[in-house]
Amino acid sequence: MSDTTETEENEAPKIVLPDDTPVDLQKELRLSNVQEVLDQLDKELIGLKPVKTRIRETAALLLVDRVRNKMDLSASSPTLHMSFTGNPGTGKTTVALRMAEILHRLDYVRTGQLVTVTRDDLVGQYIGHTAPKTKDVIKKAMGGVLFIDEAYYLYKPENERDYGAESIEILLQVMENNRDDLVVVLAGYKDKMDTFFYSNPGMRSRIAHHIGFPDYSAEELMAIAKLMLAEQNYRLSEEAAKALFEYTKRRMTMIHFANARSVRNALDRARLRQANRLFNSAGKAVTKVDLMTIEAEDILASRVFQEGSLDLDGDEGADVEPVVES
Ligand SMILES: Nc1ncnc2c1ncn2[C@@H]1O[C@H](COP(=O)(O)OP(=O)(O)OP(=O)(O)O)[C@@H](O)[C@H]1O
Ligand SMILES: [Mg+2]
Repeated sequence: MSDTTETEENEAPKIVLPDDTPVDLQKELRLSNVQEVLDQLDKELIGLKPVKTRIRETAALLLVDRVRNKMDLSASSPTLHMSFTGNPGTGKTTVALRMAEILHRLDYVRTGQLVTVTRDDLVGQYIGHTAPKTKDVIKKAMGGVLFIDEAYYLYKPENERDYGAESIEILLQVMENNRDDLVVVLAGYKDKMDTFFYSNPGMRSRIAHHIGFPDYSAEELMAIAKLMLAEQNYRLSEEAAKALFEYTKRRMTMIHFANARSVRNALDRARLRQANRLFNSAGKAVTKVDLMTIEAEDILASRVFQEGSLDLDGDEGADVEPVVES
């Protein structure tokens, strides 16, 4: 959708229709091109049933709102600030991107852009630095979606003079006054977010939609793996699929497991091993099928299959992940 059509649509004079004029909601849906994004969401994202349902509901609300507007039944635009809670790698960022697109196609926001930030982008180190930093971010995100990852770190009650509170204040104002031009999504772990909302009732009251992202089952993670591989023109041999399923079940019980992100990382390493295996099969001609196929050995060489790998949860810190999965 180009900017011009959008402006024209916005500026079109309202026609007051008789009360019993029928409206074809399906046609409105087609016109908005939003079905496309919803279908893509269904096709390209495995599982996430409750999340998909909530997104459909939101799309329906906005669509009806748009039709109501056309019929001169205007109401204040709905509050759409949201919280996305769930463990790492459950698809929060991916869904936020799609949500931004949907909001844009339904003319709720001017652009479909998603600006992702964390505390460090919003809060300064010194007095007087926070307000300009936060305002700068808001300016960049205006007309789209501002995604604040691990939003609860904005609030640090243990620090008496924490500048996070200043940032929250500014955000609260914008969330209220500019709610038809900026949608704020707060993302992070469920329990930390609950604590944050408990201490920040102002923030809580401005968030209309709380969407929980469940952990994936081993079967869902396998489906995600196959989707990711297909996107890159790779496939698993039958034995490799069995090995990856076993890998997934083990990896799920280990430290720093990050759902779909761990799957992506595991596949990256499997590709590396596959390349080395092919490279080392010196002399033998390599076929297109060879180039596409991940074999069981490419998976089974992972440290996840070594004795005692479950104990690889020492105090190595967050960047242990590649080590654990390599
Ligand atoms: N349901 C899904 N189907 C297919 N791919 C998925 C699904 N969920 C996540 N992914 C993929 O897994 C990766 C991690 O997802 P994403 O970054 O959206 O998760 P996140 O919840 O934002 O994680 P983090 O907490 O680490 O920020 C991405 O590459 C994404 O495409
Ligand atoms: Mg993310």
